[in-house]
Amino acid sequence: MSKEAITYGIVGYPVKHSLSPLMHNTAFTELDIPAVYKLFPLKEEELPAFFEGLRKKDSSIFGLNVTVPYKEAVIPFMDSLSPFAKRAMSVNVVVISEDRKLTGYNTDGPGFLAHLAELQFNTCDKRIAILGAGGTTRAILTSLCLIPERPESIKIYNRTSEKAEALVKDLSQRMDTSLVEIVTSIDDLNIEICDLLINTTSVGLNDPDSTLIGAEQLHSNLLVYDVVYEPPETKLLKLAKEQGAKTSNGLGLLFYQGMLSFHHWAGQELPNDIKKKIRDLLEKGAKA
Ligand code: ATR
Repeated sequence: MSKEAITYGIVGYPVKHSLSPLMHNTAFTELDIPAVYKLFPLKEEELPAFFEGLRKKDSSIFGLNVTVPYKEAVIPFMDSLSPFAKRAMSVNVVVISEDRKLTGYNTDGPGFLAHLAELQFNTCDKRIAILGAGGTTRAILTSLCLIPERPESIKIYNRTSEKAEALVKDLSQRMDTSLVEIVTSIDDLNIEICDLLINTTSVGLNDPDSTLIGAEQLHSNLLVYDVVYEPPETKLLKLAKEQGAKTSNGLGLLFYQGMLSFHHWAGQELPNDIKKKIRDLLEKGAKA
């Protein structure tokens, strides 16, 4: 029997709409790497056996992405965490060594910062408003609290404010969160004096008519960053554009976290022409 191909993949539930296989299988093909990237839709009760299986000498799996809802749940299965993953307490990349040791990384936070850099947005002394307090905010907020170009302020609004409180309380044990304030109404975000508005909620996902923010709160000095990319232009981004704001959907974050994931697994950065090809495919994939 032929040996199974070197395997990478994404663990989550659900994962069937993930664009990560498109990204990584393109990279493997372009580089002639005999590996395959698969979907691993797992129920929570299946996680222990799956991660135990990774420790077997004959396992063909050498790396994983982890997505919703398991970025925190997989941490006990790791042998070690990168310094950033340890601060965020969130893992979206697993590297499995030849001797079957598991190291957890987080590339969501660094991926977000890489995209902000591409957008030429410098966080130094900026006023930032965030909608949502889930896993994406956890990674983004960790980055924004640790970045040397320290923002002036970060305000967070979440539908369930207790979740925002719990998130910031947790992060505050491992970093300086004194610039973060939780507000209990969208008005109190003071978007009118902000430089950056980030939506990490799923409002607008596959729904071109939903938004938490009205046109009257948006303005031309704002970068509006919606982590949603299906549809590529959410109602929030449409309204923001109409008000003259700069806008971005979440495809850049998806792309950069993926490129950083690949780097962790392959130990090499992809050549620029392949990166460009992958980025174009993602744009098309998100519109499909
Ligand atoms: P992710 O990892 O993508 O951040 P998540 O951890 O499930 O996903 O977080 C989803 C976020 O979207 C949460 O902040 C959630 O708010 P609650 O904490 O109140 O549940 C937010 N969210 C989802 N649906 C929402 C809605 N209809 N209105 C407002 N916020 C919503």
